[in-house]
Amino acid sequence: MSMERLILPDIPEYHLLDVYESRGGYQMLRKALGMKPEEVTEEVKKSGLRGRGGACFPTGLKWTFMPKQSDKPKFLCVNGDESEPGTFKDRQIFEFNPHQMIEGILIAAYAMGIATAYLYIRGEYATWIRMVRKAVDDAYAKGYVGRDIMGSGFSTELVIHRGAGAYICGEESSLMNSLEGQRGYPRVKPPFPAQNGVWGCPTTINNVETIANVPVILRLGWEAYSKIGHPRHPGPILVGVSGHVNKPGVFELPTGLLLTEIIGNYAGGVPGNKRIKAVIPGGSSTMILRGDQIAGVTMDADGLKAAGSSVGTAGMIVMDEDTDLIRVITRITAFYHHESCGQCTPCREGTGWMHKILQRFEQGHAAASDIDLLLNVANNIEGNTICALGDAAAWPVQSMIKRFREEFEKRVAPAPAMGPPLAEAVH
Ligand SMILES: Cc1cc2nc3c(=O)[nH]c(=O)nc-3n(C[C@H](O)[C@H](O)[C@H](O)COP(=O)(O)O)c2cc1C
Repeated sequence: MSMERLILPDIPEYHLLDVYESRGGYQMLRKALGMKPEEVTEEVKKSGLRGRGGACFPTGLKWTFMPKQSDKPKFLCVNGDESEPGTFKDRQIFEFNPHQMIEGILIAAYAMGIATAYLYIRGEYATWIRMVRKAVDDAYAKGYVGRDIMGSGFSTELVIHRGAGAYICGEESSLMNSLEGQRGYPRVKPPFPAQNGVWGCPTTINNVETIANVPVILRLGWEAYSKIGHPRHPGPILVGVSGHVNKPGVFELPTGLLLTEIIGNYAGGVPGNKRIKAVIPGGSSTMILRGDQIAGVTMDADGLKAAGSSVGTAGMIVMDEDTDLIRVITRITAFYHHESCGQCTPCREGTGWMHKILQRFEQGHAAASDIDLLLNVANNIEGNTICALGDAAAWPVQSMIKRFREEFEKRVAPAPAMGPPLAEAVH
């Protein structure tokens, strides 16, 4: 299926401001400034856009949570922390289409009456931070950002904030603490960010790709946008495919395509035509699927929910028949143990315990009872922590045991050899 690329258009030098402008860039900002702020929010709401940062929350609805009148300043935090293993799509926007993201930020700021937007970018993305900084400087120089934008009387600042290398700072409340210069600990909710966010003020947090969709909605109109892909989760989606495929990369696709089509037609299939053993569909925190169960499964919120997983960040990891899944889950769990911020006991302790038990399987000295022990630890993390990092650590383990129990059974240490029966031994 071919579709005009709306987020990553195939246009040379599109990251440059003059090229972006020559293709109608910043005209949607102009259009938005001519509308009432609530009309812009309504357009986004009706489009059906859902967040691309992992939870698929309806974007327009989130914007309506912001108070219209507020004595305090309001903030927008754009989440470009992108640290989930298997996820590498926001950086394509930073590199190839930064102005569309900036335009989306400005439209969102106008819709919600925001005077300062922060763009929080993963610290390790030094190269991409430089690229985005250049784009923001150019937009400032042209008067698209700053005071009295396009003579409309609307002003907003855009501040780039470089993260310091912690996965937890992608969680929205940690991100806000990190912005404030505090340790990146998640906050207890409620209060929710729209009431009490960064600096104690009303705040909306949106993912980079989510925001890059906003100018597209204004250009096409909500109705046309809502017809792209799956009706309950519409729009273009950046699908990152890695692992055992011939052509790994980020593909802009309509939602609702078959996973098998994405792997076979876009990512070039599996090297050597090997069998697919497993697929992690949406970044390392989403539940793993068996390769023999992905037929008919589609890349959208409903499709993956029905299959017992989730879209997450649409970062798909494909594993062929020769993959050692115990090694995979041990490595993933090591990541979550390392990245747990340590605030909640179930996550701080449980991720380490899971890693230790998994190492016993990896090294061949696990007991048969360790399978259920591992599941028990995972079940006691899930739902018992302030933020969803605990769930993100538990889900891969739970789903791996549920769908690949035999892999664990095969790695249980053989029972110690029994001596001869006692009576024989005596005589
Ligand atoms: C541990 C953890 C890490 C996260 N990392 C990111 C991230 O790097 N980027 C992101 O956009 N959302 C991340 N999220 C989700 C955010 O908390 C939040 O839901 C998202 O930024 C909202 O944007 P959206 O509604 O546009 O999807 C993370 C969540 C958790 C629990």
